[in-house]
Order: sequence, then C-alpha cells, then structure tokens
Amino acid sequence: MAEKKEKFYVTTPIYYTNGLPHIGHTYTTVVADVVRRYKKMRGFDVVMTTGTDEHGVNVERAAKKAGVPESEFVARMADAWRALWDELGLTADEFVRTTDLQHVRTVQWLFRLCKENGYVYKGHYTGQYCIFDNAFVTDAKPGDNCPDCGRPTETLTEENYFFKLSAFQKPLLDFYRKFPDFIQPESRRNEIISFVEGGLKDLSITRTTVRWGIPVPGEEPHVFYVWFDALTAYLSAVGGPEYEKRGMWPADLHLVGKDIIRFHTVYWPAFLMAAMLPLPRQVWAHGWFLMDAAKMSKSKGNVVLPRPIVSVLGMDALRYFLLREVVFGQDGNFSYEALVTRYNGDLANGLGNLASRTAAMIEKNFEGRVPKPAEREPQDDALAKETRDAIGEVLERYDKMEFARALETIWGVIAAADKYLTTEQPWALGNSEAEQSRKATVLWTTAELLRIVTALSHPVLPDSTAKVWALLGQKTSVTVVELDGLRWGQLAAATPLGKSQALFPRIEKSEAVERIEAMANEELNPTPEPGAKPAASATGHGSGAVTAHAAGPANKIGIEDFAKVEMRVGQVKTAERIVGADKLLKLTVDIGSEIRQICAGIAQYYEPDSLIGRKVVVVTNLAPRKLRGVESNGMIVAASVGPDGRPVLAGFHEDVEIGARLK
Ligand code: MSP
Repeated sequence: MAEKKEKFYVTTPIYYTNGLPHIGHTYTTVVADVVRRYKKMRGFDVVMTTGTDEHGVNVERAAKKAGVPESEFVARMADAWRALWDELGLTADEFVRTTDLQHVRTVQWLFRLCKENGYVYKGHYTGQYCIFDNAFVTDAKPGDNCPDCGRPTETLTEENYFFKLSAFQKPLLDFYRKFPDFIQPESRRNEIISFVEGGLKDLSITRTTVRWGIPVPGEEPHVFYVWFDALTAYLSAVGGPEYEKRGMWPADLHLVGKDIIRFHTVYWPAFLMAAMLPLPRQVWAHGWFLMDAAKMSKSKGNVVLPRPIVSVLGMDALRYFLLREVVFGQDGNFSYEALVTRYNGDLANGLGNLASRTAAMIEKNFEGRVPKPAEREPQDDALAKETRDAIGEVLERYDKMEFARALETIWGVIAAADKYLTTEQPWALGNSEAEQSRKATVLWTTAELLRIVTALSHPVLPDSTAKVWALLGQKTSVTVVELDGLRWGQLAAATPLGKSQALFPRIEKSEAVERIEAMANEELNPTPEPGAKPAASATGHGSGAVTAHAAGPANKIGIEDFAKVEMRVGQVKTAERIVGADKLLKLTVDIGSEIRQICAGIAQYYEPDSLIGRKVVVVTNLAPRKLRGVESNGMIVAASVGPDGRPVLAGFHEDVEIGARLK
C-alpha cells in the first residue's frame, strides 16, 4: 500500500471584495501557488486556499453605491476574483467566501467555544474607528487620522462582545518562544514580540452598528467584527467544526502581507488557544510591492494590474519577476521597465535560448534524439557537478522561502551552460567519429542540465517548463516530478525530442511597456459601451487603447452615449520627447479653461516643434493616468492610417476658438 503522504496546508489572505485584484494581491497568491507546486513536487499532500472577505461597512457602502443588495454585490465580486485567479492559473484547492454557510457555522462555533471557555464577555466600547481598515485605532483621539491609511477616524461607542486578549499575553509569548519559526521573517517576529510584551488590551469582536455581517446567534443585532469572522475562514475552508475529518488543520503556512501580520500572529493564535484548537505552524509576512515608492491603491491611481502584463509577456514572466526581483519579506519597487528587462535577459536570452539552441542542435545532428554521451572531459564533469550541487541548494532555498536566491542559483547554472557551449562550440565540430562523439557528449550534457533546471524552476514557471519538458521528450508531466529523486544522469539516450514551441519571444522594451500601459489604462478606464468603438483613434493615454473601427449596425450607440465623451479644441503650447519612451510626446495643451499635460503616442510621426501652436481635438473628461511615470490628463484625437496605424492628428480648416466643445 502506498505510504500516506504528509499534509501541507497553505493559505493566502482572503481578499476584500470592495476592490479587484492588483499586483499586490497577485503577489501573495502567486507565492502560495509556488509553494503549493513545490510542496507537491516534494511529495506532500497539499491544500491551498484563498477566498474573499465579504462583510463589513465598506461592502455595505460599495453595494449601496452600486445600487444592488450586498449579497448580490459580493457574489459578483467573488466571481470576478475567482475568474481572475483561474485566468492566471492560480486556482486554489478551496475558495472560501465569508458568506458561505459553512463559514457562518464555523464562526458561530468558534465563538461558542471561546465563550464556553470563559474568554468572551459583553461590554461597551468607545473609540476611534477607521472604517476603511475596519479597525479601531488604538490610542487615537477624536480628530486623529488613521495611521495606516491616513483617512479620518470616527468616534464610535457601542455594546460589543469582547474577547479577553489580555489573558493571552503570557501564553502567546511562551508560544513564540517555543516555536521560534512561527513568525517569519525574523524582523517581524521581534516586532510582534515587543508589541505583545507591551501589553494586550481586550478586543471587541462584535458590532451592533454594522448590519452586513454574520449574526451572533440569539444576540441580534450583534454581528461578528471582521477579523474574528475573516481569520476563521482558514478553518472553515478545510472542514470547519469537522476539521478533523479532512485532516488538514492546523495550517502549515499562512502567507500574508506585512500589513496584517498582527492579526495573524496575535489575534488568531489567541482565538484558537481560547477555543483549545490546534495552532498554525507558521505565518510568513512578505513586504509590499510599491509603485512610485508608495503602496498601491486605487484612490492614489497607482495600481498595477496583472492582466495587461500577462497578455503582453505571459504569466510565467510575471511570476518570475515577482519572485526574482525582491527578497521575499522585503518591500520592492514595481516597474514595467525592470519587468521587461528580466523577461528579455533571464527568460528569452536565458532559459528560452538554452532550450531552443539545445533542441535545434540535437535535431540537426542526431535526428532529433537525445545523443548517447561518450567519453567525458573534465569540463563536462565540472558542469555536472555544478548542476548536481545546485539541486540541493535550490531545494534548501525554496524551503526557506528564499525564492530570489533559488532562482539565482538556477540561473547561475543556465549561465554556466551558456559558457560551456561557447567554449565547446559543438556547432563547429565536424563529422569524424571522434568529433561526433564529442558533440554527443556536449549536447547530452547540455540537455541533461536543461532537464534539471526545468524541473527545479517548474514551481515558478509552470507553463514554460511544461513546454521545455515536452521538448525534452519527457513522457510524464513535469508537475509530478519528485524533486527528491532528481539526479544528474537520468536523461535517457535515444529519447525522441518533442515539438519546438515558442517560449519567450524577445520583445522591444518600449513597445512592451507601451502596450502594457495602454491595456492597463483601458482596464482601469474602459471606453464607454463595449462594442461601440469610435471611428477614430485617440493617441493620448497610450496609443492603441482605442482603435479605428467602423461601427456596424449591431453596435450603434445612442446620442446620450456619445455625449458622455467631452471633446474640446485645444492648442498645443509645448511639446517634448520623453526619455525612454520612443513613441510618446509630452504636450501641454490649452483647452480654454486650463492648460493640460497630455502624453500622446505620436513621437515617431511628429516632431515636437512642429506641433507648437497647432489646434487639436482633446478628449477632456478622462480620468488622469500615468504613462511611463508621466501624468497624462486627456487624449488627443487622431485617425489611425495604414497598416502601421500611423496617427494623423484631427484638426480644423477654419479658425476655431480654443475650448470650443465638439458635438
Ligand atoms: N481581508 C483582509 C485579510 C483577511 S485574512 C484573514 C485583507 N484583505 S486585502 O484585500 O486588503 O488584502 C491584503 C493582502 O493583499 C495583503 O496582506 C497582501 O497579502 C496583499 N497586498 C495588498 N497590497 C499589496 C502590495 N502593494 N504589495 C504586496 N502585497 C499586498 O487585508
């Protein structure tokens, strides 16, 4: 009988439903997915969960704004989150929603256990509350702003149920001491220990002022406060009150951003201790991805969306970048330029190139079958040793969540292979028996190295490594490779190679960035009415966002739709090129009421000086966007001409007043 596998339960936070996923959320979910794939390849029975946090005042407000009942609003949002994760290949084993019946039962059950054990009491609370973060702000006075989001707090008094968090100071400190790996990284652990040492206040866990929440049975209008509700999702995802049946609890790894570490390492273990339930083994807090040195938020207009990146570069490129660019645990800056540089440098020129060169040479010289290696030379052994050593090192780094370093080691091996090929020059060897043998050894060595780096990088690059694996003629799927059994020398001679597939086609940096930005702008700021595309192209906000298109009868729009777009006559005041963006010009345009800065994708066709004084048509009621870091506040209208879509600026043959509206 097969041995029972050891279990591994990894979670992402459950995300709020008042917004949609950006790169920050994608980061956590990607890491969870990498861990899930990696642990499977190490022989674990893995469950990964994610989900949506659907209660609270913010949702109440957002639903009201959308004019739909809360239940409908959250159902739509949960569908959108789930659909995006599916689209990105980040499908978790369980997707938990806090409105699921199973979750509601679990929260009520956990509360009952805490209450029966004497850790819950009724009281009154008055404090400053931040409705955006769903938290009372400790030590805040009326008029203070929330230290996290900077928005004003509100004074709130209400009858609450309290959780006796104060009783858990010592048990928590003992627990941290006994399990030093519980909080990671180390710096966060120290932070939490000093926080707990500073004393813990009891915590209000229900609300009477909020309607949209899980009811406290028999205690209406009390509903559970978001954190008691939300954290419990980790338990409800794997069986709730019947968690023992599923055998997955306790969680082995809660992945969170540093913003919510305290909830996970103080409140959550305390709730579980109070209920006498098993405690999670580890909470890992990663840093933030910042945009222009600030945390992303829709209100700041600096969010980066995953979809446009994936359409231009592919999901593996995004996954690779997120894990390679910053040390896990620290903050990092997100930049499209750095992303494309990594794509071209490490993926196209690195793994992609090694795979296609190796396959092409085997194809040409050995009729597409893995050659049988002959006599080895010291440099072959040296490369084999480097690869063999890398296996252990990479596994150790993955285990420590040192993703950037694991990838660095793998890419070190790829670089060594490139160097080896450059010195050995198999392509320059002739057809004599000795030279054929040498060629066979060199190409087998390279192919074997490729097989190993492919298996090692699979958790991070699932799609492309599956292609390389098939290219190497491997029959079983790379997802089921057992990393513990991965050894140098397993590549069988005579294995027929599979079909070559494009892996990472090189892309010009400025073109890639412009395409991503244009798509992101379209997603954040959709063109009114899908199917009703205007018959001219607009060149601000990233050219190509709106393409020339003659509206067919099926997609006619009403005049009221056209009226939503405000277009005015503007006059160009200044025009200059933008460093690093070949296609963009930065213009200032007088639109009568004000002077606007607008970026237009016309740099390849218009000299900046020739535009000064020219009258143009400006779409003036678009939300401002940043293009290549430069603010653009409007669009200049142009026709898109010829197969290259050359922009030709719309203009007037008669004199028109600046600021006049086009109707
Ligand atoms: N609903 C709570 C979590 C409850 S868990 C029981 C919540 N939701 S959230 O939608 O705001 O998601 C926060 C999480 O998203 C962070 O902890 C982090 O995992 C991720 N990130 C959000 N913005 C981020 C960045 N800019 N950078 C990296 N991760 C970020 O909090």
